[in-house]
Amino acid sequence: MNKILVTGGCGYIGVHTIVDLVQNGYDVISVDNNSRSSAAILAGAEQIIGKKIKNYTVDLCNLIDTETIFAENKDIIGIIHFAAYKAVGESVENPLLYFENNLTSLVNILKCAEKFNIPNFVFSSSCTVYGNPEVIPVTEETPQQPAESPYGATKQMGEVIVIDTVKSNQLQAILLRYFNPVGAHPSNLIGEIPMGKPANLVPAITQTAIGKLPTMQVWGTDYPTRDGSCVRDYIHICDIAHAHTLALNFLIDKKNTVNPEIFNLGTGDGYTVLEVIHAFEKTSGVKLNYTVGPRRPGDVVAIYANNNKAKNELGWIPAYNLDDMMSSAWNWELKLKNVASQNI
Ligand code: WQD
Repeated sequence: MNKILVTGGCGYIGVHTIVDLVQNGYDVISVDNNSRSSAAILAGAEQIIGKKIKNYTVDLCNLIDTETIFAENKDIIGIIHFAAYKAVGESVENPLLYFENNLTSLVNILKCAEKFNIPNFVFSSSCTVYGNPEVIPVTEETPQQPAESPYGATKQMGEVIVIDTVKSNQLQAILLRYFNPVGAHPSNLIGEIPMGKPANLVPAITQTAIGKLPTMQVWGTDYPTRDGSCVRDYIHICDIAHAHTLALNFLIDKKNTVNPEIFNLGTGDGYTVLEVIHAFEKTSGVKLNYTVGPRRPGDVVAIYANNNKAKNELGWIPAYNLDDMMSSAWNWELKLKNVASQNI
């Protein structure tokens, strides 16, 4: 079987992607230093796929340790690189932590791809590379505005690093620009486990609804949008995961015409913060305790994807709607509470 190395394999997107890869015939190994994740999440993935997943607890910023993975796995034919810090607010407070970690780990994994002749590379990028777009929906050709945070800057720089690297060697690459990944696997065996107080909207909603947080704030309802709150393109985590399998198939089948190919991964539908809250209340039956607060610095007013390229070239069709995203996120939050109560 084709063996794939998933970096950040114990993370939210990583673990869901591992499940989809294995269910589509790939052999997978993970590398994750668990600085922002727990290898325990792999147990849920192993239950879904019925096989063990090996995780190398290695910091990709250590090149020697990273090379060991490739020396021990000569049959790796592709890399999906998720491993990075991704808290927008933290990146503003500690930019050098983000530049060092996110860019050093990327450079090291690309050095290994070169040294060990790995032919295929998928890079976890983000819609944050568009900044505050002047025209929406955004296509892959929409000009990038200045990043709104050091986190976004590491994604813009990461894309440049991949683009320039593949010009100089045989590596074939794809950049996947995620919009807002939310929700959990239908099995309820894997999902998002935020570290500390969640910065993202959907975990803030579910943790408030379950009482883990006393309340939450809607960061601004005075934007020039249909109800004053920001617009985002929320995409189910399983749709994001499956796009990675399709991207690898695309590279292995040598269907790419440019290198790297770039794809937007969003539903193409934009929803406001208040619309997401109302969808959550409708699907969960829980009235959410929230207040309206000031705008959050760095927030983009509105962004959602033109996803025609991924649909037409990858054959990627998002399968889940907003209600599915809300109900799966809520079921996962209920599961986490149940597990926590059993571990007392
Ligand atoms: C969404 C909206 C907030 C929390 C994320 C990731 C980033 C990237 C893109 C992948 C905003 C509002 C939030 C809260 C709120 N993903 N909000 N109250 O900022 O779009 O960025 O997706 O690379 O990694 O961070 O997502 O969920 O933080 O915010 O009102 O308690 O919800 O102001 O308008 P964002 P988010």
